[in-house]
Amino acid sequence: MRALVVDPSLPCGLRLGEAADPEPGPGQVLVQVRHASLNPGELGMLAQLPAGHVGGYDAAGVVVRPAADGTGPAAGTRVLAFGPGAWAELLAVSSADVAALPRGAALAEAAALPMAGMTVLRTLRAAGSVLGRRVLVTGASGAVGRYGLQLAARAGAHVVASVRDGVHAPALTALGAHEVVVGLAALRQVGEPVDVVLETVGGPYLVAAWALLAPGATLQSIGWAGGEPAVFPPGSTFFPGVARTLSSFGDAAAVGADLGLLAGLLASGALSAQVGWRGSWERVEEAVGMVRERKVTGKAVIDIAPGAGTGLTLP
Ligand SMILES: NC(=O)c1ccc[n+]([C@@H]2O[C@H](COP(=O)([O-])OP(=O)(O)OC[C@H]3O[C@@H](n4cnc5c(N)ncnc54)[C@H](OP(=O)(O)O)[C@@H]3O)[C@@H](O)[C@H]2O)c1
Repeated sequence: MRALVVDPSLPCGLRLGEAADPEPGPGQVLVQVRHASLNPGELGMLAQLPAGHVGGYDAAGVVVRPAADGTGPAAGTRVLAFGPGAWAELLAVSSADVAALPRGAALAEAAALPMAGMTVLRTLRAAGSVLGRRVLVTGASGAVGRYGLQLAARAGAHVVASVRDGVHAPALTALGAHEVVVGLAALRQVGEPVDVVLETVGGPYLVAAWALLAPGATLQSIGWAGGEPAVFPPGSTFFPGVARTLSSFGDAAAVGADLGLLAGLLASGALSAQVGWRGSWERVEEAVGMVRERKVTGKAVIDIAPGAGTGLTLP
């Protein structure tokens, strides 16, 4: 099959090449991938992967072979999927990590959702009910931030979106942000404490967000997009009274039900996929550059034209 394979000799680290067809295990479905998305974390890890490795985790396509153990969707079902090896014509993925895509939702948009959507869904759940609570989303202009603020607003939160560039304010307000705070200095000046933080920037944003936590509030540490170290002033992690907490996120097991929830929200129009770049996987170099240089507002989605190379007849 054709696939985006790791090529350490190229600055972008990926090229459109060939890889062995995946052999699904008994609990795996085989998906013909039509669209996949690129996440900055995946691109950051390319240098640690061997030449020829097929990367990627987010895919949407059509099941061409159901799981041998009878679990999961039938052949012909349009699905979104989360599993290693998504940047390829074929993906063998656990039936616990796929969900059927309702009619009316576009596969290309569904491909944007799995990793970023599942991340914010699970971190919001971990934070408890946000109904009527103040939720701060840092890096709100990014892919995770855009999903986070939409889901938090939908769950009844008062959403404070933190960005470094005010150019994003109108779009984020349209997505559900109640306040947009521009820049680090303004974040430090936010007067009212927050109950939950979805934190994606790290460094000084993490420190500023921590200082805003109300008693009992939680900061969900999702990412470190800014790449700077976090320096906490002495004493800033000690508070008398009810504890504030910082939680890490990494629970990406059995995401099928959550993908189904996200797919339903997408299909009903309650969640916007925020695809900011879309193009053929032959333009992978351009796509990778756009993501790395922060030129994509939202998600980057690659189109994978069905090839003759798979030898599969589509249902
Ligand atoms: N995508 C996923 O599925 C996923 C899942 C788990 C964890 N993560 C992690 O979460 C983080 C965000 O991911 P993402 O997909 O949302 O990335 P993204 O789309 O590239 O967004 C990055 C966000 O961080 C902001 N940012 C970057 N550098 C900054 C700096 N120096 N100061 C202030 N703001 C800065 C960006 O602001 P501008 O818009 O102004 O550039 C943008 O809002 C990453 O660390 C990623 O590894 C991502």
